[in-house]
Amino acid sequence: MFWFLVLLSSLLTESRSNSCPCERPELCRPIREERDFEVFVFDVGGKTWKSYNWNMVTTVATFGRYDAELMCYAHSKGARVVLKGDVPLSDMVDQDNRTAWITGKVKLAKSQFMDGINIDIEQAVEEGSPEYQALTDLVNETTEAFHREMPGSQVSFDVAWSPKCIDKRCYDYVAIAESCDLLFVMSYDEQSQITGDCIAMANAPLSQTLNAYDDYLNLKIDPKKLVMGLPWYGYDYPCLNLSQEGICSIAKVPFRGAPCSDAAGKQKTYKWIMQQVNSSLSGRLWDSKQQAPYFNYKDQKGQIHQVWYDDPQSICPKANSVKSKGLGGIGMWNGNILDYSDEPVAKQQTAMMWNALLGC
Ligand SMILES: *[C@@H]1O[C@H](CO)[C@@H](O)[C@H](O)[C@H]1NC(C)=O
Ligand SMILES: *[C@@H]1O[C@H](CO)[C@@H](O)[C@H](O)[C@H]1NC(C)=O
Ligand SMILES: *[C@@H]1O[C@H](CO)[C@@H](O)[C@H](O)[C@H]1NC(C)=O
Ligand SMILES: *[C@@H]1O[C@H](CO)[C@@H](O)[C@H](O)[C@H]1NC(C)=O
Repeated sequence: MFWFLVLLSSLLTESRSNSCPCERPELCRPIREERDFEVFVFDVGGKTWKSYNWNMVTTVATFGRYDAELMCYAHSKGARVVLKGDVPLSDMVDQDNRTAWITGKVKLAKSQFMDGINIDIEQAVEEGSPEYQALTDLVNETTEAFHREMPGSQVSFDVAWSPKCIDKRCYDYVAIAESCDLLFVMSYDEQSQITGDCIAMANAPLSQTLNAYDDYLNLKIDPKKLVMGLPWYGYDYPCLNLSQEGICSIAKVPFRGAPCSDAAGKQKTYKWIMQQVNSSLSGRLWDSKQQAPYFNYKDQKGQIHQVWYDDPQSICPKANSVKSKGLGGIGMWNGNILDYSDEPVAKQQTAMMWNALLGC
């Protein structure tokens, strides 16, 4: 009896892992078509994906737990769902290890009816190191395997806002771009290495953000391979001192060789920010140099904070330049962090954030 049950349960597990969890079996079929414009969404879990603007979404990178319902729904809207790929690079120097990792991901993608993988390696790498070559090989071999085993699948790779060794990520950006379908450019956390005054600044100042795309394009990377990644979050900095001019000095928290960093602040969702801004000390302010909104508030302990973020006004010129530079699309970190409640003000703000992706 015992062995019978063991056998039965393993048979059930086996059949479950291979059978389509969707209402209609055709929803498990991979999405193969190429899109002329990507709207690439990171999903970190929960169920707020139900409120995404699905007329726009083309790819969902699932960084939360596997959610079969999300996969079925995305497929019903013609959108891809891709795995997260993250692994210590020191383990990937070895060819057999790399092959084993890639084989495992392809198998996982097939068993979960996914449409590709987003490789998110944000590790420091020195030019010319064994990891430098291993990273390029990893991307090349992952793309080869996915395209071979799952025709039409998509392999993307996340890069920093600039190709200039940001956070000591000195990667072979040109070879990596050639070796995959898309680079998701994380145009945020741009204050991770502050070398000037230790003060609160915008998460993604406009001209710095756009100049870095020119740096990528000057490397002769195909613009269609670049997806602009926007932050749907901001930074909340406790101010050591708020000057008369409104400059907020921040604690010195070093990061990868720089004396201070946005790590002195806390990341806050657009939802939280919208709930704070009206009751803040300053209300919404606009920095014309960085082209970004910010505000000051006092917490319950009397500590002054400065919050920097992005909203439709700061996103609009970025989204416009996606069009003018002929980039492959736009996306955000992350889709879940807007206010998806039924509150009329929230509904409108959330709709405006989605619409801002298409420019103004
Ligand atoms: C292979 O990866 C494992 C962890 O997944 C690691 O412990 C091991 O050192 C790696 N082997 C080689 C030869 O890199
Ligand atoms: C991977 O590298 C090989 C050898 O350089 C090359 O022929 C192939 O086109 C590359 N594959 C991809 C997907 O870039
Ligand atoms: C702190 O802010 C005050 C008020 O604006 C200013 O007078 C003072 O110079 C600032 N101190 C420092 C160390 O920046
Ligand atoms: C905050 O103020 C803005 C501008 O006055 C207004 O449109 C918005 O509805 C307010 N938000 C909330 C949550 O009351």
